[in-house]
Amino acid sequence: MKRIILMLLLALGLWGKSVAASGGVEWEKFPQQKANDLSSLQNGAKLFVNYCLNCHSASYMRYNRLSDLGLTEDQIKKNLMFATDKVGDLMQVSMDPKQAKQWFGVNPPDLTLVARSRSAVGKGTGSDYLYTYLRTYYRDDSRPTGWNNLAFPNVGMPHVLWQLQGQRIAHFKTNKDPTDSTKTVQSFDRFEMIAPGSMSEKEYDSAITDLVGFLHWMSEPMRQQRQTLGLFVLGFLALFTLIAWRLNSIYWKDIK
Ligand code: HEC
Repeated sequence: MKRIILMLLLALGLWGKSVAASGGVEWEKFPQQKANDLSSLQNGAKLFVNYCLNCHSASYMRYNRLSDLGLTEDQIKKNLMFATDKVGDLMQVSMDPKQAKQWFGVNPPDLTLVARSRSAVGKGTGSDYLYTYLRTYYRDDSRPTGWNNLAFPNVGMPHVLWQLQGQRIAHFKTNKDPTDSTKTVQSFDRFEMIAPGSMSEKEYDSAITDLVGFLHWMSEPMRQQRQTLGLFVLGFLALFTLIAWRLNSIYWKDIK
């Protein structure tokens, strides 16, 4: 048993390392407190269908599930549905996967579960990753799309929100490699804005918080209910333990 636990721990440790080594900067913390804010989630849903759903699907998600975010069927139809007119439909895209592969070199992955699948031991949650990823695009003319990203170096996806964030270039520092003094390594230094977007930095961060909050919600729409139910069950168990214990001592009172 001890050996199995040890092996499991070791495997986890190694796995965490290999993910962390796959490149990219440290992840910033996603502002978790907005994750249950309905107006923030509604704005996230709007950004998602406007800016992401034309390339990415969310094929485990139905439009009418958005009613959980406090939207009426009418609001969903009017503001959030462009690809279909049936609210019971899944969030799918009409883009041909073969064509997408030709354009971007890779297929845009389905995003329903991305906020869960991209967490990494030692780096953070999937939401931390997304929050960092969507805020660290910069101009790079050596890339086919003209864009690069700090959290996902050499990403195939262009910066689809550049009109909001603006266009930035990245400056890198050259340092001596700590393990080999004959080599140098590059590390990120700072961004420089070359053409501002329609949003200030604060507004953009807030928009990304809403968008990532939505992706976080979509990856497990029942999370809130599950957690509330969990607390309820724990409360019940505590109460029941008390009752069972009291009953037990009452039953045995006269026998002893
Ligand atoms: C023009 C098409 C296009 C649009 C629009 C688009 N993406 Fe992407 N996206 C891609 C492609 C292509 C990839 C695959 C990139 C790769 O693997 O190099 C990708 C990958 C991703 C990934 C996966 C990154 C990873 O670590 O695996 C995430 C997350 C993502 N996109 C989020 C978004 C969000 C959020 C939006 C809306 C703001 C969006 N995308 C809009 C084309 C697009």
